[in-house]
Amino acid sequence: MAATSLIDRAIAVLRLNDTGIFTKPGPHQYPHQWNWDSALIALGLSHFDLPRAQQEILSLLSGQWRDGMIPSVVYHSIPSDYFPNPEFWQIENSPSAPGVSTTGITQPPLLATVVQMMHTRHPMTDFVREVYPAILHWHRWLHTDRDADGSALACIIHPWESGTDDSPRWLHLFEAIRPEALPEFQRGDTRHVAAIERPNPRDYERFIYLIDVFRRLNYTPGELLKYSPFLAQDVLFNSILFRADEDLRALAKSIGEPTEEIDTWLNRMQPNFNARFWQEDIGLYYDYDMRTGKSIPINTASTFLPLFAGLPSKEQAQRLVEGHLLNPGEYAPNDSLRHWVTTTSQTEPTWEARRYWRGPAWVIMNWFIIEGLKRYSYDDLADTIRRDTVGLVETSGFREYYDARDGSGCGSTDFSWSAALAIELSQSSKSNP
Ligand code: GLC
Repeated sequence: MAATSLIDRAIAVLRLNDTGIFTKPGPHQYPHQWNWDSALIALGLSHFDLPRAQQEILSLLSGQWRDGMIPSVVYHSIPSDYFPNPEFWQIENSPSAPGVSTTGITQPPLLATVVQMMHTRHPMTDFVREVYPAILHWHRWLHTDRDADGSALACIIHPWESGTDDSPRWLHLFEAIRPEALPEFQRGDTRHVAAIERPNPRDYERFIYLIDVFRRLNYTPGELLKYSPFLAQDVLFNSILFRADEDLRALAKSIGEPTEEIDTWLNRMQPNFNARFWQEDIGLYYDYDMRTGKSIPINTASTFLPLFAGLPSKEQAQRLVEGHLLNPGEYAPNDSLRHWVTTTSQTEPTWEARRYWRGPAWVIMNWFIIEGLKRYSYDDLADTIRRDTVGLVETSGFREYYDARDGSGCGSTDFSWSAALAIELSQSSKSNP
């Protein structure tokens, strides 16, 4: 029997996780619909089934809150052993909650970028008209209800909103949080994946404690900004938002909608982004802790996300790439680390080879970095990382993340965005938008 191709195997994973209404990120570990996973899944699906890709996006939008927030998870009444379950969030106490079960927090706003990529490749004006108002509403919410200092930068109130849950960027902030009267809970995530590859118990307690604070505040946006013990401006989140604003603007233009409001966000964000995050002395972008008013001096791969948004100058890009990404002491492969791109610099004392966002390579991060490198004409390096990433999924399967030392897989198996991005990375050439 002829061996099936990588793309056929990737399509099979997306079909396996397809519930008919939405696609699960992973068959056991993640049985509901996640926000930025869905955007990437739609991008992968669009290569072979555009109507199904559009359906994925409409399913996600069905969970939108009345104030515009698109939540991190839409539960879709699928019974599961996932924790936190819908009841835990108590979103019904908020007047903005939708009629379906969701979480009460958001995730990085990748959707506009994916819709724009799909529209560029397969013009779909009617669909853009249909989804544009909902995406605009979400961006408006991010630039108002999550703007704590008038900079147009968005704040996150929970590490889960960063999409990089236990990244060492958040450890200092967690040190200052002392959970009192923690609600009773039982973790579900270590049932399917080895505990060594998941967040440690101390971090997890704080994840849950924060949700308890938010539900006691009934998810009122002003109160969350005022009282959330965790409040940060995140380089990754704001890079994705800036790029998504640009893409939203392009979508608006293509359907004849006004762009002034989006222009205001973009014009305010650009200088504020560099002023807030760029560290001239070391040539890195650092996240910012709004509670202490200090930069968070931790070197992770999210420092490369601004490249994806075109935010650094040529000189800044050069310092990021040549000073850090290509440095074998930090990110580039070396004698003991064979693969691109470890999510945390190896110089960080908290680096761990197999623990979640503490060190492993993730296909999503590699994709952001590849796209960013192409934007700054580092085409050869982009192609090296692209080939290495496709090699990882070829050899170790569609895993959630990979041990960058030897390429072995970690976390969930049959992981949807690794499959979706394998299709994207195999099909897109250097010159694709
Ligand atoms: C984890 C990841 C997050 C992802 C989710 C579902 O929580 O940190 O980025 O969206 O799993 O795959």
